[in-house]
Parts: sequence; C-alpha cells; structure tokens
Amino acid sequence: MPRLGVNIDHVATVRQARKTVEPDPVWAAALAELGGADVITLHLREDRRHIQDRDLQVLRQTVQVKLNLEMAAEPEITQIAVAARPHQATLVPERRQEITTEGGLDVIGNLPRVEGCLKALRQAGIEVSLFIDPDLRQIEAARALGVQAVELHTGRYADAANAADQDREFHTLAEAGQFAIEAGLILHLGHGLTYRNVARVARIAGACELNIGHSIVARAIMVGFQQATREMKMLIDAAPRRISGE
Ligand code: PXP
Repeated sequence: MPRLGVNIDHVATVRQARKTVEPDPVWAAALAELGGADVITLHLREDRRHIQDRDLQVLRQTVQVKLNLEMAAEPEITQIAVAARPHQATLVPERRQEITTEGGLDVIGNLPRVEGCLKALRQAGIEVSLFIDPDLRQIEAARALGVQAVELHTGRYADAANAADQDREFHTLAEAGQFAIEAGLILHLGHGLTYRNVARVARIAGACELNIGHSIVARAIMVGFQQATREMKMLIDAAPRRISGE
C-alpha cells in the first residue's frame, strides 16, 4: 500500500492571505499525523507565497513522520534545505506566475543546475526525489543521476476531460511507473489527486508514496466548517448581556 504524503501548503496560503499567525501549517501537520499521514510535504517557494522559512524550521523539529521538502533546484533554497536537513527533498520546477507546479521538472534540459543541487543535498544526507512527467527519457535521466526516487506527475490523469482520456493517461502513468521501478527507482506519484480519482493510482504496482494537498485541504474546510460556525455562535450566545445605557 502506498504511503500518504499530506501537502500542507494551502494552510499557509490562507494564513498569508492576512499575514497573520493562523491557520498554522504546523498545527495542520500535527493533525494530519493524527489522521495517519505517513509523510508531511511542504513547498518552500522562492517567492514565499505560502510556506515561510519559519514553518520549515518548526516543522523540522515537530514532525514525527517523514518530512518532504519540495523545492526548486536554486542555490538559495538548496542552502536552506541543507541547513534544515529534511528527510527528503523533491525537486520541482518553479515559475513565478504559475498557480501551482505546472508540469514536471525537465531534468534533461536543466542538467547542470540539477546536478549542482543534488551534490549539495547528497552531502547533507538528504534523499532526493525528482518530480517529473511520466516520460521515459526523463526517468532514464533521473536514474543516470542516481537519485533515490521519482514522483510522477499525475496532473494529466487527474485533469482528463473524459473517461477515454483518463484511461490513456492512467496507462501512461502505470507504464512509466513500471519503467521507473525496473530502473531501480522508488516510485512516488502526485498532483491533482482527489477523493474520487485516487483509488486507481493507489493500485499502481509498486507505488510507494502519494503526495496530496489541495483535495485534503479543501475537504478539511468543508468537514470543519459546521463545527467552527457552531463554536463561534456559542461564544456570541454566551457573552454577558450589557444593560442598555451601561
Ligand atoms: N506533488 C508535487 C511535486 C507538487 O508540487 C504538488 C503541489 O504542490 C503536489 C504533489 C500536490 O498536488 P495537489 O495539491 O494537487 O494535491
């Protein structure tokens, strides 16, 4: 059975909307652990739009399961990763204007940058996974670099417009997954997975880790909204009444 990595970035996105202290992704990570998360995943972006440096530092000290840092292969973030020493770093592409990570890392087209980053992460004893499209040439490039794992981008499967497209994308993923495992790589998958589409991906032979963020945070808001409203109403109802004119 694959492990579940819970991506907590969106919790920080809500906090950063007000630049305040809540909701705290550190709390969310603890609750995710209580819910059975095997991995806590966070993405420290260069633009710091959600996760902040403080979050990584505190999570490094508090998370009891595996901590997976998604990061661009850039010198500033590499230095931070080396200092924080998460269990695993997942190298992802990053573009300032994107809403979320769009497409996998082009390992072949960015070889010198990826190699430099890998060297530093390896020296710090951090396991490395590369987030790539289910493309055999990229998997081969990952194998040649000697990384431990690849995370195959499931976005095209998740976003397929109809059942036939979804079937095709699924088979591409399953075949690429098998190729990765035969190449000696640990197989992770993620992006766009939801409560509706996860089961099929979870059954891919050899799938070791699934990273899921948006769908879990979206559901957490919905299953918690009623109770949160009730608690606020109770506080209002219980507030001492002022006598008029006081
Ligand atoms: N894996 C990687 C490498 C990602 O960048 C993301 C998004 O941050 C995810 C998984 C999770 O994707 P989603 O939020 O769509 O579940």
